[in-house]
Amino acid sequence: MTETPITLSAATVVDQLVAALGPDIVTLAAEAQADGRRFADWSGVPSGDVLALVRPRSTEDLSRALAICHSAGQPVTVQGGLTGLAGGASALDGEIAVSLERMKAIEEVDPISATMTVQAGCILQTVQEAALQAGYFFPLDLGARGSCTIGGVLATNAGGNRVIKYGMTRDLVLGVEAVLADGSVISGLHKMLKNNSGYDLKNLLIGSEGTLGVITRVVLRLRPRPLGVSTAWCGLSNFESVTSLLRRAQSELAGGVSAFEVMWPSYLGFVLGNFPELRRPLAGEHAFHVLLETDGADPEAQGEQFEGFLGRMFEDEILDDAAVAMSDQAALDFWAVRDAPGEFPRLIPKMIAFDISFAVRDLADAAERITQGLDERYPGSLALVYGHLGDGNLHLIIDVPGATKEVVEAVEAFVYGVVSELNGSVSAEHGIGLKKRNVLSRTRTPAELAAMVAIKRGLDPKSILGRGRILG
Ligand code: LAC
Ligand code: ZN
Repeated sequence: MTETPITLSAATVVDQLVAALGPDIVTLAAEAQADGRRFADWSGVPSGDVLALVRPRSTEDLSRALAICHSAGQPVTVQGGLTGLAGGASALDGEIAVSLERMKAIEEVDPISATMTVQAGCILQTVQEAALQAGYFFPLDLGARGSCTIGGVLATNAGGNRVIKYGMTRDLVLGVEAVLADGSVISGLHKMLKNNSGYDLKNLLIGSEGTLGVITRVVLRLRPRPLGVSTAWCGLSNFESVTSLLRRAQSELAGGVSAFEVMWPSYLGFVLGNFPELRRPLAGEHAFHVLLETDGADPEAQGEQFEGFLGRMFEDEILDDAAVAMSDQAALDFWAVRDAPGEFPRLIPKMIAFDISFAVRDLADAAERITQGLDERYPGSLALVYGHLGDGNLHLIIDVPGATKEVVEAVEAFVYGVVSELNGSVSAEHGIGLKKRNVLSRTRTPAELAAMVAIKRGLDPKSILGRGRILG
């Protein structure tokens, strides 16, 4: 490792932090790295030379740390489980990293209000399990469940596989406590669904990717525990059938649709070809594959109703083929095919990944324009398309063998051009971070960007939190 050029003022800030909080809470970055700590997230954005790591034990500790950093104009990056995909948590040169890993307690489950109060460092899976133990359900779910933290989940307004029924993170949060850049504490740990008392600071912090405040404690909204889940893998021959299936499942299944994941043939071919342990869900070839799930309170009636529904979809020629999961394992086997992208970075190290969204009606057109355009420009390139179709969210993995930096930029410009033409979004669920700040203006107007800058200046006038993320 190269020598970190610690300036006098930066050294002084670290000294002040150590003096105020002690060497247990404030560790030099080199020491933390010697213990195996990394400061970069999953985005591929490398970390710079970090000055120190601050691991508060309480909101009060964090408040003192940020007050010191604020006075000194010292940039800080907040880190959770480091599974983000936009580079928001990758620490830059000269930053101090803050991790809430010591604040991970579940403070309370309130079965009457159906809420859980947790500290921001708590792992998502721990929350899910505690909810089930209390007879409830915390529906947010994503591949990184075993390592992502609730603080990170809120900071990125994470989405995942059940958004179609239960909403994004912000729909599952009732209260937030956070420390602002100057060390002041916003204590909004309410448990009410309704709270129209002025600006919604909680929703401003959720999705702010560590740029407006550091979330320390959260009141989560719990949902009734579904007693039965029915899952099917469906093969369809055209996009109109896919949207008909979605609409009819939403109106005809009593429990609604808890997942509607769509995979294009390129995706399925690649996944089944590269992961021999995965089981092919249907024998034939189909233009679209849908992983459909419903959940509800009456497993027996639901199972019958689900099969009846699929039968009607065959009669109405919406479905070409379908397989119902007859056991939990069979459902897991279906999901394994959908969850394979966790391994893509290993298989396609130079992949160019997109997380874009469109109106549901435009999704097939968008996918077609992008894959055709790529094929014309870069014959032999790989384009895998899949996503949370009910949410309008496509994931796109592109690989152009031997691509130079210029080619990568041209591919990005082309894809984001299609996003602009169809009035979509450059980020559906992964966020902007460092990676997509150059394209934010493609989906946000100058007036919107100016409003964001005004909010940032108002809450963090010296721009110490997540400097350069989102707004550049
Ligand atoms: C997924 C992640 C990458 O849906 O958002 O696979
Ligand atoms: Zn996703």
